[in-house]
Amino acid sequence: MADYQTHEHDVLIIGAGGAGLRAAIEASRTGLKVGLVCKSLLGKAHTVMAEGGIAAALANVDDRDNWRVHFADTMRGGQYVNNWRMAEIHAKEAPDRVRELESWGAVFDRTPDGRILQRNFGGHRYPRLAHVGDRTGLELIRTLQDHGIHQGIDVHMEHTVVTLLKSGDRVSGVLAYERERGRFKVFKARSIVLATGGIGRAYKITSNSWEYTGDGHALAYDAGAELIDMEFVQFHPTGMIWPPSVMGILVTEGVRGEGGILTNKDGTRFMFGQIPDNYKAQTADNPEEGWRYCQGDKDARRPPELLTRDHVARCIVKEIKEGRGSPHGGVYLDIAWIKEKLPNAAEHIKRKLPSMYHQFKQLADIDITTEAMEIGPTTHYVMGGIRVDADTQMTTTVPGLFACGECASGINGANRLGGNSLSDIIVFGKRAGEYAAKFAQEHDAGSVDQAEVEEAARRALEPFERGAKEGSSAEGPYKVQYDLQEMMQDLVGIVRREDEMQRALEGLGKLWERAKRVAVHGHREYNPGWHTAIDLKNLLTVSEAVTRSALQRKESRGAHFRDDFEAKDPAFGSVNTVLRRGADGGMDVRLETIPEMPEHLKEVIKEMQ
Ligand code: FUM
Repeated sequence: MADYQTHEHDVLIIGAGGAGLRAAIEASRTGLKVGLVCKSLLGKAHTVMAEGGIAAALANVDDRDNWRVHFADTMRGGQYVNNWRMAEIHAKEAPDRVRELESWGAVFDRTPDGRILQRNFGGHRYPRLAHVGDRTGLELIRTLQDHGIHQGIDVHMEHTVVTLLKSGDRVSGVLAYERERGRFKVFKARSIVLATGGIGRAYKITSNSWEYTGDGHALAYDAGAELIDMEFVQFHPTGMIWPPSVMGILVTEGVRGEGGILTNKDGTRFMFGQIPDNYKAQTADNPEEGWRYCQGDKDARRPPELLTRDHVARCIVKEIKEGRGSPHGGVYLDIAWIKEKLPNAAEHIKRKLPSMYHQFKQLADIDITTEAMEIGPTTHYVMGGIRVDADTQMTTTVPGLFACGECASGINGANRLGGNSLSDIIVFGKRAGEYAAKFAQEHDAGSVDQAEVEEAARRALEPFERGAKEGSSAEGPYKVQYDLQEMMQDLVGIVRREDEMQRALEGLGKLWERAKRVAVHGHREYNPGWHTAIDLKNLLTVSEAVTRSALQRKESRGAHFRDDFEAKDPAFGSVNTVLRRGADGGMDVRLETIPEMPEHLKEVIKEMQ
């Protein structure tokens, strides 16, 4: 029996983005021993990719805003399959969480009278996004780290968790390995919070960096938790497309919030021809009114570029498919045009969108104050995820296991509004930390089964055994990962159809087989091939979850668009897709009716319509 280094915590948080950090801060307030394990370095989380702002109804720029409008916007954006209780909590608590961040030192942009400035974003009725230029996620992470560092949290960076350990039904710890040295470690804990972010790396074109391989989703699923609504994958309308080395990098929606327009190769603002009926009343039908809206005119309606992300992404794809795209296969996003309106436009753009200015200058040699950007959709976020209780964030089937942030599901329904992720992670990160601490206070430490640890470690090392046995004839993990990303992009992407997804399912079966046979060489220190071999299981699990759920939902709703079922079907309007490991080890999918919304929330929706 190997003697692994063992750490004991009351609460263990996995993931150090905004959700994980906020959970850790909250749990540590109780005086419990809190550990935080993260795959990368502190400060390097996808949170920084939410650039344009945090959605919270502070009503600093438009006093008509309040939690009710935010709730209604979130539900409508999510096409009413959201967990309404989560959407309610989120809309009510986001303003306090943002003010708390400010009190911890976050330096937001200000209104002329010194309050937190808020900007427009797609699907939000009023300017609602508190922001720090276009670096809001970065400032959020910085603030939480600076604050968290004083709370006595034990941070274990560059550790990958390979399995959750259980004592009976409940969790009791994890087995992880140190990426740098390749050593296994056991972390024991009374409660565990998963805050591992998304699944973007299952796709070829993504704004997500290498860490986002669906680890939390897969760990929870393997431990018996349910995943819901995995078909809803968000393709952000604007990612870089050129040069190829930077394809997928995010171009913030803040560009459109500041007046940026989308045009095709003929210079046409194609979004004006694509306003859905249910948004017509609130959407400008001429450029002048759209610009006035971006300038803060309360009587003006939003420009069509600020319709919800699912819709804008599909309209872009349509332009490209119908031959009206840009030379590198995208469309144009133009903020430089505002020089017609503002005398100091270049300065204004650099002040409001400093990262975008530098990103395009350095990566694409484009000056966005004088030229249009070429952009196209990029896989950005998954609305689906681990099923949790709305108030406590504990998983519904594994006691002591909590989840928050992108890896948890519910608040966003079929489509997330931009800016709701940063507020989600601080609202539900806090709650997850609070209730995980409560669980730890009320329960003894569970036991850790050494045989289970040994078996997990043995499985993790199998690729080395095959490498030693089969030499260079065995396939390595990179080609399998590449083929998976290509296939998901092509067959389970923005526009889906039955036959293609069935092909994807067959393809996944083959990829699972290949993944079980991949081999790696060398030793365990700094071995990226081994890391990739371990990630493959998670990538395949989430890819299968997306595909099976997408096949089940025979309609188009939010981010899930089916060519063969183009309309919304009311029969699917009140159901979630739920996935769980079946008795035979396969993935079981079922549809489950969403509990009815209480009267007081129905009233809010009615009033806002
Ligand atoms: O476009 C953006 O700045 C992204 C924001 C978000 O995903 O919430």
